[in-house]
Amino acid sequence: MNVGVDLISFQTSQYFLDLATLAQVRGVPVDKFPDGLGQERMAVPPPDEDIVTLAASAAQPLLAQTNPADIELLLFGTESGVDQSKAASLFVHGLLGLPKRCRAIELKEACYSATAALHLAAAWIQQHPTKKALVLAADIARYDLASPGEPTQGCGAVAMLVSTNPRVLALDPETGFHAENVMDFWRPNYRTEALVDGKYSTLVYLSTLVDAWRQYKALSSRGLDAFARNCFHLPFTRLAEKAYVRLCREEKTPEPSAEELHRRVGSSLLYNRQTGNTYTASLYEGLASLLDNDSEDLGGQRIGLFSYGSGCMAEFFSGVVQPGYRQQLFAERHHQMLAGRTELTYRQYEDIFRYVIPDDGGDHLLAPYRTGAFRLKDVRKHVRCYETTT
Ligand code: HMG
Repeated sequence: MNVGVDLISFQTSQYFLDLATLAQVRGVPVDKFPDGLGQERMAVPPPDEDIVTLAASAAQPLLAQTNPADIELLLFGTESGVDQSKAASLFVHGLLGLPKRCRAIELKEACYSATAALHLAAAWIQQHPTKKALVLAADIARYDLASPGEPTQGCGAVAMLVSTNPRVLALDPETGFHAENVMDFWRPNYRTEALVDGKYSTLVYLSTLVDAWRQYKALSSRGLDAFARNCFHLPFTRLAEKAYVRLCREEKTPEPSAEELHRRVGSSLLYNRQTGNTYTASLYEGLASLLDNDSEDLGGQRIGLFSYGSGCMAEFFSGVVQPGYRQQLFAERHHQMLAGRTELTYRQYEDIFRYVIPDDGGDHLLAPYRTGAFRLKDVRKHVRCYETTT
């Protein structure tokens, strides 16, 4: 039985900071961010946007094309949770009006949790083939101002409907995965910005890629030539290019030319270059970017996917793009959203970055900014209250 991604939709903030502006303020050569990191803009969430509003807005177009009563599982991967106890999935469940007969939980393991959610959902669908699962991935990537991580900030959400006979991507059963207790990136409960050992984190990313790949290869007997394209977790897009080259070295195949590298991974990087890191959503933002933008019809072809979450968990898996997938995409919506964003000045970015909702239990009304279909309206007596904007 084929199980996998039936529909996929992506959402990001309506505001961005151009990294040329950041480079100028930080006194960094203007080429460094686009060429050295592979990033052009970073999405900045206004105060009334959070992972709940981003994820609910990402999911809304999917729900218009499915019967909500079929969704009995709602898994929300995030490391930007809005509550230590209550699952963010329950806020989304309410906003989307999903049926009461539904298991709705939140999962955490840095940028990996959406991959865990996808595989758990696929296994659940195998047991409940007439049902559907909704997998949400949303994050807000925050590092200290003026730190090396700052230009890799971003935000966004991906929603995926998981079902039998999926119309977009059928998952292969073989996967290679790797767990290891390392301190490359983490965020203690008392901090709103992540701590990171940046260079070390890139080394762990690449070494666990090789471990996960070796397992996958042993289980599937597939080599790199089995994949028409590769998608990688995208903390910044240059790392995906390095990751693909690393796999070529591991396979002792000739290093890819610039054209070949672009053909293999280029289409998957387009959205991330415009949004920055979306943590657990970023691999799937890359998948949406690939499917929406690749000039070749990839129907019937296999895609290799690498998921990495600091701390760390890594997984290499794959899926076959389904014939006719192009009719199921939300490419036009994604293009319009990215093209219609508002550029921030550096001062506006820093003001938004520094804004925090007071934690005094008072009544705090949020000023309305541009958001997707949902926004955070107010926080009253520690209760977050959301509303629709349309
Ligand atoms: P940095 O201080 O900007 O490093 O930190 P750099 O000065 O070495 O510059 C980076 C690259 O730009 C280098 O290229 C430079 O040569 C190049 P490389 O040697 O790496 O190929 N460069 C230039 N290129 C063109 N023109 C110029 C120029 N100047 C320099 N003028 C770092 C970079 C990634 C460490 C930093 O941004 C950081 O700490 N980021 C956050 C951590 C991160 O993204 N880690 C990735 C792996 S961990 C992960 O993926 C998990 C994560 O998503 C979190 C989760 O799991 O939840 C982060």
